[in-house]
Amino acid sequence: MQQIIITLDGYSSCGKSTLAKRLASYFGYKFIDSGAMYRAITLYFLRNVVDWNNSEEVVEALKNIDIEFQYNPEFKQSEIFLNGENVEYVIRDLVVAEKVSEVAAVKEVREFAVALQQSYGLEKGIVMDGRDIGSTVFPDAEVKFFLEADLAVRVQRRFKELYEKNPHVTLEEVSSNLAHRDYIDSNREISPLRKPEGAIILDNTNYTKDEFFKIAVDKVKEVAAKLEA
Ligand code: CDP
Ligand code: CDP
Repeated sequence: MQQIIITLDGYSSCGKSTLAKRLASYFGYKFIDSGAMYRAITLYFLRNVVDWNNSEEVVEALKNIDIEFQYNPEFKQSEIFLNGENVEYVIRDLVVAEKVSEVAAVKEVREFAVALQQSYGLEKGIVMDGRDIGSTVFPDAEVKFFLEADLAVRVQRRFKELYEKNPHVTLEEVSSNLAHRDYIDSNREISPLRKPEGAIILDNTNYTKDEFFKIAVDKVKEVAAKLEA
């Protein structure tokens, strides 16, 4: 199959990263979790008490941020490094999740992240998930997915995931965080979450991960076959 770009966008906890990782591994592509980049920047801002409403402070802080993805063969996944530190797990904490959408709405932050994301896609052969990947980062991507799932199901799935790591987390906290982020992400001025033009819409409410993966792989192969015809 010729090297293409596959994008996945949608609300929080629709199963984007889970599907993106599996697609990348199946096709032998790079996987980039763009949300992890916004989370890593947020972690840096929180740790260094950067006021993200002050654009001068933001511009100065971004000069000190180096983000890299490295493949971890033990867990067979790419992990994010912030200034040389593996922050793949710490960025999933609710403390970061509570602020990330505010940080991700800042113009300078988006310009910084989008430029980096576009540089990863120069050679194609990439799967990237996020909110604006098919609309802004790679508007010409060969395959664009837009994922959906009912809010109650998304909350349950994310709660289960967070609870396994921290039994103090509550369903209410997770539910309000998802609703809050979905609202900010859909209503911000720059690159709000939208269904990209030409996107394939997949609803993940009633599928297992395996079933959903199979549906998506078949769609990618269908598009690839047309490109090669
Ligand atoms: O995993 P989950 O869907 O909960 O979130 P994520 O993909 O880790 O993204 C965290 C946050 O980063 C989102 O709620 C958005 O505010 C922001 N984000 C964004 O603005 N644009 C992207 N392309 C990806 C994430
Ligand atoms: O990246 P995004 O925030 O869209 O979602 P995710 O982190 O890939 O998935 C959210 C949670 O749903 C994870 O705990 C997945 O294991 C789980 N899940 C899923 O992705 N797909 C299913 N069919 C069932 C559960």
